[in-house]
Amino acid sequence: MPSLSPRLQQIYKQLLTGEAVWDLCCDHGYVGSHAYQSQLFPEINFVDQVPEIIVRLEERFQRDIVQTTNPTATRFITASGEELTLELTGNVVISGVGSYTIFQILKSLQTKNLLKAKRLILCPQNDVVKMDEIKKLPGFLYRQSQDIISVNEKDRVREIFVLDQVTHT
Ligand SMILES: C[S@@+](CC[C@H](N)C(=O)[O-])C[C@H]1O[C@@H](n2cnc3c(N)ncnc32)[C@H](O)[C@@H]1O
Repeated sequence: MPSLSPRLQQIYKQLLTGEAVWDLCCDHGYVGSHAYQSQLFPEINFVDQVPEIIVRLEERFQRDIVQTTNPTATRFITASGEELTLELTGNVVISGVGSYTIFQILKSLQTKNLLKAKRLILCPQNDVVKMDEIKKLPGFLYRQSQDIISVNEKDRVREIFVLDQVTHT
């Protein structure tokens, strides 16, 4: 498997170990695959809306990546992020899509009460929808816990937002 680009490395570094990983809009699935190989996460969920992408990813995964002694559970799901019907726990990564798509996915999951992750790691391709608008979604219990991470990629600056669930005691 290719090594992670600086942007994907930064995203990977933000994952909370010991927690599930949801690699939404995963395409090549590099972040989820690295998480699998590390054995530091109990469960990896690969999600993309394009069926052929998930078929190819699962084939490549079974051929090149799967390890017989690796206890990590994996799921390959063909669905748009908006359509998911499972609870998302642990880490949710949404990267490499526009901010409007990220907004729509989070809004849909939030409305269905499925957003139970401890950490959201978001790396939009643009800032059509500002992060402040995402934070204002009704019932959205996530706050930026650290500074925005900026990474140069193909002569563009890409921003990574790390949001942690706010727990009320
Ligand atoms: C450029 S790739 C991003 C790959 C990887 N996440 C990254 O950051 O490098 C975008 C992927 O998002 C998928 N995608 C776009 N909108 C989506 C949605 N609403 N739900 C799920 N997948 C989506 C596309 O099919 C495509 O495979």
